[in-house]
Amino acid sequence: MKIAIGCDHGGIVLKESVLEALKELGAEAIDLGTYTTDSVDYPTYGLKVALAVKNKEADAGIVMCGTGIGISISANKVKGIRAAVVTNTYMAQLTKEHNNANIIALGGRVISGEEAKEIVKAWYTAEYQGGRHQRRLDMITDIENGNY
Ligand code: RB5
Repeated sequence: MKIAIGCDHGGIVLKESVLEALKELGAEAIDLGTYTTDSVDYPTYGLKVALAVKNKEADAGIVMCGTGIGISISANKVKGIRAAVVTNTYMAQLTKEHNNANIIALGGRVISGEEAKEIVKAWYTAEYQGGRHQRRLDMITDIENGNY
């Protein structure tokens, strides 16, 4: 699996841990920046990762900012993206099983590097359950397409 990752200066503290987790999982990481702790704008990196997923250059993505919130909101503006802020392994597992989240968002000011690793592994290894959940994802797609 190819996983696009992106972060701002508030999320970069988690990048090494996320890369380590992906390596341990045997996934290929595509690092779309940022690459330093200089202040940058999180929408830039939310968009880069979202487009990589939308355009199938990556199978899924991981975004990081201070809280995970701003960068997830940005990624979610791209059609077909289901980016979920995740703060523990239970949320990570369920957002794959129920929401089929194709991006998870982590907060560098909220969780530790060790927690980030466990979260990435829980999300990556969980499987989408389909069934009744697909009807709900189809409803989200309808909203996205203005059919409400
Ligand atoms: C940047 O200071 C901070 O606002 C950003 O990383 C993020 O937390 C926004 O949601």
